[in-house]
Amino acid sequence: MTLIETVKELRAWRKAADRVYFVPTMGALHEGHATLIREARKMAGPDAQVVASIFVNPLQFGPNEDFDRYPRTLETDLAICQEAGADMVFAPAVKEVYHHDRSIQIHETSLSNVLCGASRPGHFDGVCTVVAKLFNFVQPDDALFGKKDYQQLAIIRRLVRDLDFPVDIHGIDTVREPDGLAMSSRNRYLTPAERAQAPALRAALLKARDAWLTGVTGTRRLLEIIHYYLADEATLGRKDYISIVDRDTLQPLDLVQNNGLIALAVFFDKARLIDNIELVR
Ligand code: PAJ
Repeated sequence: MTLIETVKELRAWRKAADRVYFVPTMGALHEGHATLIREARKMAGPDAQVVASIFVNPLQFGPNEDFDRYPRTLETDLAICQEAGADMVFAPAVKEVYHHDRSIQIHETSLSNVLCGASRPGHFDGVCTVVAKLFNFVQPDDALFGKKDYQQLAIIRRLVRDLDFPVDIHGIDTVREPDGLAMSSRNRYLTPAERAQAPALRAALLKARDAWLTGVTGTRRLLEIIHYYLADEATLGRKDYISIVDRDTLQPLDLVQNNGLIALAVFFDKARLIDNIELVR
C-alpha cells in the first residue's frame, strides 16, 4: 500500500492507474470505515485500484465544534486501510488542500436546510467543497459513502448530479456495535454511563419501524414512539432533532407510505450522536 501526501505525487500516481474506487474519510478509522474499504475492494476486484483519503477538513467544522480535538491516529489508520485492502492512501496536510487566499466554495441551497444541516450551518458546504476537491484530485470512477451519514450521502448524490462529476456513488449500510450503537469516531467521547444509554437511539428507531411495518403511517405517532422511548432510556441525552423525511429529497412527511427515513441527533455531554433508519418495503 502506498501513502501519498502531495497533490503532485497523487497526479502522477493517478496517470498510471486505470479504474479507481474511492473512500473519503477524516481518519480515526473504525470498523465502519474498514467496511467501506472492504466493499470497495470487492467491487474493484484484482485489477482496479482502491484509494482511501484521510483528511480532517477544517471547512466542515463550526467555530464551536471539535476540529482541534478531532482524533488524529494516522499510524493505526494506515494499518486499518492496508488490512481492509486499500492500494493507496491520500493523506494531505491542510495547506496542500486549501490555498491561504482561497475565495471559491460550494454552497448547497436545499438539502442542507434540514436535519443536521439546520443545526450545523455551513457544515455541508464544507463537505461539498472538500469532496469536490477530493474528486478532482483522485478522479475516481466510483466512490463509497456510509448511510450512517444519510444526509451527507443524499447531498453528495446531488453534488455529483448538479456539477456533473463522472463518479458513481454507492451508499453502504451502517456498521454497528453488537448492542446496536452505530460506530462513530465520536463514540470515544462518551462517558461509561452515556455509552450504556447510547444504544437506545437505535432501539427507538427500530420500535418506530416496527410500528410502521404494522401499519402506523402517521409521522406524529411514529415520532411520539421515539420521544417516549428516549425520554425513558436516554436520560443523559438531549434531543437535537428527530425527523421523518422523504429519503431522497429529505423533505418532511406527514404520512410515510414508502421511501421514508427517520433521522435523529442526540447530544450527550461531549458527543453529538446521529442515527437513522429507512422505511422502505
Ligand atoms: P468520516 O466521518 O470519517 O466518515 C467517512 C465515511 O465513513 C463516510 O462515508 C461515513 O458515512 C462512513 N461511516 C462512518 N461511520 C460509519 C458506520 N458506522 N457505518 C458505515 N459507514 C460509516 O464523513 C466524513 O468523514 C467526511 O464528511 C468526508 C465525507 C470524508 C468529507 O470530509
